[in-house]
Amino acid sequence: MSLSSFQCTNFRCLESVALEFSPSQNLVYGANASGKTSILEAIAYLGRARSFRGAGTRELVRHGAEELVVFGKVDMGSRQVPLGIRNGKQGLEVHADGEKSGSAAQLAEALPLQVIDPDVHDLVAGGPERRRRYLDWIAFHVEPGYLERWRRCRRALKQRNAALREGGQGQALKGWDEELAGLGEEIDKARRRMIEVVAPAIEDFGAGLLGSAVGIEYLAGWSAGKSLAEALAASKERDRQLASTQCGPHRADVRLQYNERRARKLVSRGQQKLLACALVLAATEVVQIHLEKPLLLLLDDPAAELDRDSVARLMAAVEVLGSQVVATTLDPEKALFSEIPALFHVEHGTVQRAE
Ligand SMILES: Nc1ncnc2c1ncn2[C@@H]1O[C@H](COP(=O)(O)OP(=O)(O)OP(=O)(O)O)[C@@H](O)[C@H]1O
Ligand SMILES: [Mg+2]
Repeated sequence: MSLSSFQCTNFRCLESVALEFSPSQNLVYGANASGKTSILEAIAYLGRARSFRGAGTRELVRHGAEELVVFGKVDMGSRQVPLGIRNGKQGLEVHADGEKSGSAAQLAEALPLQVIDPDVHDLVAGGPERRRRYLDWIAFHVEPGYLERWRRCRRALKQRNAALREGGQGQALKGWDEELAGLGEEIDKARRRMIEVVAPAIEDFGAGLLGSAVGIEYLAGWSAGKSLAEALAASKERDRQLASTQCGPHRADVRLQYNERRARKLVSRGQQKLLACALVLAATEVVQIHLEKPLLLLLDDPAAELDRDSVARLMAAVEVLGSQVVATTLDPEKALFSEIPALFHVEHGTVQRAE
């Protein structure tokens, strides 16, 4: 699988961009504020229908324009799958493989991608939500029906919280307790399976990038040794007081260790970045093996905050994966890839193929 062509209109500073990508390595270079990150953000938007910079639609639509459009073709080998998004005042419109009212899940299935940007260290140093989303992304691609179960679980959680806000008495709460306990255990088991699959790959990439032992441990979001039903029953009084559910899969986390120390407390940002990269590359590898196709990796200024040796190790690990890569750099003279990639120059939001 590779993104063979890509177009966008009125996305951030990009008025109109049309690119043909190489199925292997692509490098976009340009000065500060030329539009490099915006290009990667637009590509990721095509596969996720949301911004990896956490921006809302109003920020993404080019100043003065009404709506943004992103469009691309994914080369599946036997055929080309068209994907497109229009968003603006009329709301979000997703086109997936000829279907007019497509969903974000269809985009994610057709164009699975991962991003490494200068904020990637948040995966290690930030709050647990990003680590849960990390596990859920693997499960979405590997475990059939995971997304549907997770949606039902979130709905049960929302309803339970609503019942708690109304005093938490009677049958309503009991019903949602049972629903949440059942689905929460299923989500938990699926996530544990994902940890088992991805942990050896994280250890390998971690050893390659950091030269040290990396450990990963899953924390369910409720007391070990208890079923979720027991944990919910035990925390009911507290949940009533706080009018929200204090335990469950929405409280899960992944604890990372580096040299037997808690990685969140690592002092060096460079080490946090390398560990986060190990996580991202490991997840990419696991999903690639499962789907039996290369994924798309977007690398925004991968050299940021890393010394020369670390950049070389990171890029060597990326090349071993064999994914399609679109990377950005300020300086095209600094060799990131061992072979010459397809080169693109961006200037004031305009992109041209460079030789
Ligand atoms: N909605 C928008 N409409 C027009 N321009 C925008 C919009 N959102 C952001 N910009 C501008 O787009 C420009 C390019 O931003 P981008 O983050 O893509 O630059 P970059 O090339 O990645 O820069 P750097 O090297 O500093 O990371 C910035 O000047 C920014 O102010
Ligand atoms: Mg940038």
